[in-house]
Amino acid sequence: MDINIAVVPVAGLGTRLLPATKSQPKEMLPVGRKPVVQYVVEELTRMRMKRVLFITGPGKTSIENHFDLNEELIKELRESGKEELLEELEYERAPLQYFYTRQRELLGLGHAIQCAEPFVGNQPFVTALGDSIIGMQAKSDIVQRMIRCFTEHRASAVIAFERVPMEEIHRYGVAKPRSAGEVFEIEDLVEKPTRQEAASNLAIAARYVFAPEIFDAIRRTPPGKHGEIQITDAIRLLMKEGGKVFGVCLRADERRYDIGNFQAYFRAFVEFALEDEKQGPALRKHLEALLDHHP
Ligand code: UTP
Repeated sequence: MDINIAVVPVAGLGTRLLPATKSQPKEMLPVGRKPVVQYVVEELTRMRMKRVLFITGPGKTSIENHFDLNEELIKELRESGKEELLEELEYERAPLQYFYTRQRELLGLGHAIQCAEPFVGNQPFVTALGDSIIGMQAKSDIVQRMIRCFTEHRASAVIAFERVPMEEIHRYGVAKPRSAGEVFEIEDLVEKPTRQEAASNLAIAARYVFAPEIFDAIRRTPPGKHGEIQITDAIRLLMKEGGKVFGVCLRADERRYDIGNFQAYFRAFVEFALEDEKQGPALRKHLEALLDHHP
């Protein structure tokens, strides 16, 4: 099955990253050299997506500008002899078409995904959260593995999972799997469980593949906490009505870098900067010296 539409929700306010996100989207914060959302789009390009629909909101136009061709900048770089910097703009020429729609009320991730319905119509699609990078330098084929699972099992939904330490489990949506293994059917999902309630250490990790039935399920999902329509609740409704939902685990070398809070953002930035081909080695020395002086 050829699944080539990706929906990327980026409408959230990013309040946990204030003041950095007061007048710029969190998805545009840099991790190493690139804004987070560029890594997401590069991953989707490698996964051969053809159309990307961003679910945006007020204050998010810099995302649109970022993926546009900037002929003026290209001309300026050529004329001032900085041809080598043109390489940094190669991503503008990715073989993708970009679309944008606004989530006019911030009613949660489920509601954001529902905004894609008139565009997606009656076909399966990928959803990738715009604030999460999967794998160092976004080198991950998790979406491909999820699409394979979706097709093989005629699933209603496939979700990516990351194994997280049990002391952090209360921050995530967590799976109750029917079986062990890297690909498993899901019996239930629990949002932000206590350690005792959690049936596994498998946390939902920012990538989904959905059959179009998800739209109807979202429509029938009542608002939960803070009046938000949770995508997890809509997926549970699908399962309750007989839909098969599967999980695919990220590999150990495919960590999820969610930049939604400062701790995770700082860690992601430092890790990506340390891996930077040009600046990484010098930064490593600098950090080692700093840490030697402040044990
Ligand atoms: P988060 O809940 O992490 O994002 O949603 P947030 O609402 O921006 O975070 P805080 O709590 O205020 O700091 C995960 C993803 O879902 C999108 C966000 O943009 C983010 O990419 N989202 C969330 C929407 O598009 N719409 C929503 O109503 C909620």
